[in-house]
Amino acid sequence: MSATIIDGKATSLKLRESTGKQVAEFVEQTGVTPHLVVVLVGEDAASAVYVRNKERACLAAGIKSTIHRLSAETSQADLLKLIAQLNANQDVHGILVQLPLPQQIEEQAILDVISPLKDVDAFHPENVGLLVQGRARFLPCTPAGCLQLIEQVCPDISGKHAVILGRSEIVGKPMGLLLIQRGVDATVTTCHSRTKDLASITSQADILIAAIGKANFVTADMVKPGAIVIDVGINRVDGKLVGDVDFAAVSQIAGAITPVPGGVGPMTIANLLQNALLAARTQTS
Ligand code: GUN
Repeated sequence: MSATIIDGKATSLKLRESTGKQVAEFVEQTGVTPHLVVVLVGEDAASAVYVRNKERACLAAGIKSTIHRLSAETSQADLLKLIAQLNANQDVHGILVQLPLPQQIEEQAILDVISPLKDVDAFHPENVGLLVQGRARFLPCTPAGCLQLIEQVCPDISGKHAVILGRSEIVGKPMGLLLIQRGVDATVTTCHSRTKDLASITSQADILIAAIGKANFVTADMVKPGAIVIDVGINRVDGKLVGDVDFAAVSQIAGAITPVPGGVGPMTIANLLQNALLAARTQTS
């Protein structure tokens, strides 16, 4: 038996189309065009591709996009100064600092000073706190995209056992928070590099989310037959993009699975556009 392939590309295009319509209505009602500023520091090749894709998606949805490309030698003080200017600029509704940052810059120090109202990544401690308390301002883009893909094949997640591989601030932790929120009601187990007897835990998952950044880490013996498998990994192996899941083998066991590319990745961008619109709404009276 082979799994249903969850089409993240098609789902993201539908969401982007809907956002585009909402943007057009917003512009008509307010005369304000939502404006997202992306800050890219250094020459990381993968980051450059992500940032270009974000810009294209913004433009297609009618969202104004500005990219600040800074040299890899940029100091933390200079980056803090730019963030302060963007915070104060009423023409800017959303600010995204592409991660990772060069090693001379402390990431958290930067994320901490982005205005929470402009924090479309939902990485600021205030926005993380609101999410923890079940009253999120912005949904974290990648976890929200994962949840939307899960809901496509499993409309009633209540009581399902979701196992998350990875405890990152960007995916693992906020993913758990979305899945245990009231109304979603999954039972969540989060595994990480110190987890003992990993396969025995992943084998109990109705929903398995892999976000560890290790190519082909999840093998068929770790997956319960019929499980929903969400692959957040983007790893480059011999010039090819592969996920954290051994797709060829696991797709023979799982009930549904996301491909890489064309799974979670496009959903992240679609949710970013939603957040950019929401940020503009919140800041426009
Ligand atoms: N780098 C990898 N994923 C992300 C993301 O979702 N947001 C930002 N700002 N940087 C990233």
